[in-house]
Amino acid sequence: MNVTFADFSLPKTGAVAVFAAEGKPLSGRAAEIDKKTGGALKRAMKGAEFKGAKGQMIDLLSPKGLSAARVVLVGLGKPEKLTASVFETLGGSLVGHLEKTADKTVAVAVDPIKGSSVSEEEAAAHLAFGAKLRGYKFDKYQTKKKRPAPSKTKLGKVTVMSGVTTQARRHFSPLGKIADGVCLARDLVNEPANILHPAEFAGRAKELAKLGVKVDVLGEKAMQKLGMGALLGVGQGSVRESQLVTMQWMGGEKGEAPVAFVGKGVCFDTGGISLKPGAGMEDMKGDMGGAACVTGLMHALAARKAPVNAVGVIGLVENMPDAGAQRPGDIVTAADGQTIEVINTDAEGRLVLADALWYTQDKFDPKFMIDLATLTGAIMVALGQEYAGLFSNDDELSEQLTSSGLSVNEKVWRLPMGEPYDKMINSKFADMKNVGSRYGGSITAAQFLQRFVDGRPWAHIDIAGTAMNSPASAINTSWGSGYGVRLLNKLVADHYEN
Ligand code: BES
Ligand code: ZN
Ligand code: ZN
Repeated sequence: MNVTFADFSLPKTGAVAVFAAEGKPLSGRAAEIDKKTGGALKRAMKGAEFKGAKGQMIDLLSPKGLSAARVVLVGLGKPEKLTASVFETLGGSLVGHLEKTADKTVAVAVDPIKGSSVSEEEAAAHLAFGAKLRGYKFDKYQTKKKRPAPSKTKLGKVTVMSGVTTQARRHFSPLGKIADGVCLARDLVNEPANILHPAEFAGRAKELAKLGVKVDVLGEKAMQKLGMGALLGVGQGSVRESQLVTMQWMGGEKGEAPVAFVGKGVCFDTGGISLKPGAGMEDMKGDMGGAACVTGLMHALAARKAPVNAVGVIGLVENMPDAGAQRPGDIVTAADGQTIEVINTDAEGRLVLADALWYTQDKFDPKFMIDLATLTGAIMVALGQEYAGLFSNDDELSEQLTSSGLSVNEKVWRLPMGEPYDKMINSKFADMKNVGSRYGGSITAAQFLQRFVDGRPWAHIDIAGTAMNSPASAINTSWGSGYGVRLLNKLVADHYEN
C-alpha cells in the first residue's frame, strides 16, 4: 500500500473520504463537499441514519458536482473520545471498506477536530499508519489472483490530505518504519516452512545489515562448541541446519548495557517423535512467531534510528521426527551445564530458548531480557486470542509491558509464577524435565525458562494465541499478525531511549 501526504485538493478520480463527528454538524471538507454536491451528503446522512458513530461509513457514488468516483463519509464518534489509536482503526477500516470497491485510490481529508485532544498532524499520521498496516497482503504465491479481473482492481494508494502536510509527514516517518517492521514479521510468519527454513530465516535477518544492524549467525558447529545441547537436540532430526542469530542495534550511548529480545524460531514444529496430530499441523509453520517479532522489532528500531542499544537473539530450528531425532527420555545438557530430561519432544520451544537466553545474558549482559514464543497451546485455553500471556520476575518491567500493550492494543496479561510451580518440573533423572503435569502448562513452561535466567529482570511473553491465526482486526487481516513489534517498540520508546 502506497501511503503519502498532500495538501488539500479534490481528487479528479477515485474515492475521497471525509469525516464527521458524532452529534456535530458537518464541518471542514465534509461541509465543503456537501455544498459542492448540492446537499447530497446531508441527504445521504439522513437516508442512512448516519449519526457519525465511530467507524460508521456511507458512500456517495458518482456525486454530482464532483469528478471523484465516490465520497466516503466516515464517522469519528465523540471528539473527546478520539485517540491516535482510533485514527489507526479508522484508517484501517477505510482501506478495508474501499478494498471491496473498484476504486484504486483514496484521498482522505483530515480537518482540525473541535473538542479532540488529537492534533491534526497526529490524526493524519496515525490514519496513514492504520491504512498501511491494513493494506498488507501476503499473496506472492497466488499466481492467479495477481491478475485480477478489471472489476476487482484493488486499492493501492492512500493520500492523506491535511493543512499540516509537512508536520504529518514528519510525524509519520517513524510510524512508517514501525509498520515495515510489523509487515516483515507478518511475512516471516506467513512464509511456508519449505521456503523459510532456519538458514533462509537467518538470511532474511542478515538483510537488516542494510539498516546498520550487526548480524551474526552461528551454525551447528559453533553451537556445539558452546555446548548448546538443548537447542541442538531439537534440530537433531531435521536435514536443515539449526542457526542462532544475533542482531545488534547500537543506537544508544556507547558502553551502555543493551536491552535484549529473544525469540523462539521453530520454523516448523511437527512435535518430533512426540508427533502432533495431523489436523491443523500446517499452522506450525508459524511456530517461529517469536523470532519473527524480534526480527521485525530490530528492523523498526534500526530503521527509525532509535537512540537505544538493543540486541535481538533468535534460535532457529526445525522440529522433525526422524531416525536421528531425539527421543522422549533423552537427557540433554544445556550451554549453562544444567541437564534436561526430554519427556515430550513437542515441548521443544523451551529447549531452544534455554540456550538462547543463556547465550544472550552471557554475551551481552543486558539490562533485561524479554523473550517471545509461541510456546504453549495452554495459553489459548487460559486467555483466548485477545491477550498474550506475560510471565516475569520483575514488577516494573511487567507494568511497563502491560501499559505499553494497552496503548498500542497489543495486550498482555500477567500470570503467576512461583516455587510450587517450579517444583513441578523437577526430574527423577536430570536437573529438570521439559514438561510439568496436565495443569498450568503455560506456567510450568515459564518456570522452565526462568531456570536459565540469572536473576536479572526478565519477561516471557507467550504469543501462541496472538502471533498467528489471530482474529482479523481493522489494522490486520493477515494470518501472521506481527504481534509484539508495536508493543516492544512502544516499551523501548517510552522507557529505554536516551
Ligand atoms: N508450538 C507449540 C505450541 C503451540 C500450539 C503454538 C498451538 C501455537 C498453537 C509448542 O511447541 C507445543 O507443542 N507445546 C505443547 C507443550 C506440551 C507438550 C507440554 C502444547 O502446548 O501442547
Ligand atoms: Zn511443540
Ligand atoms: Zn513449538
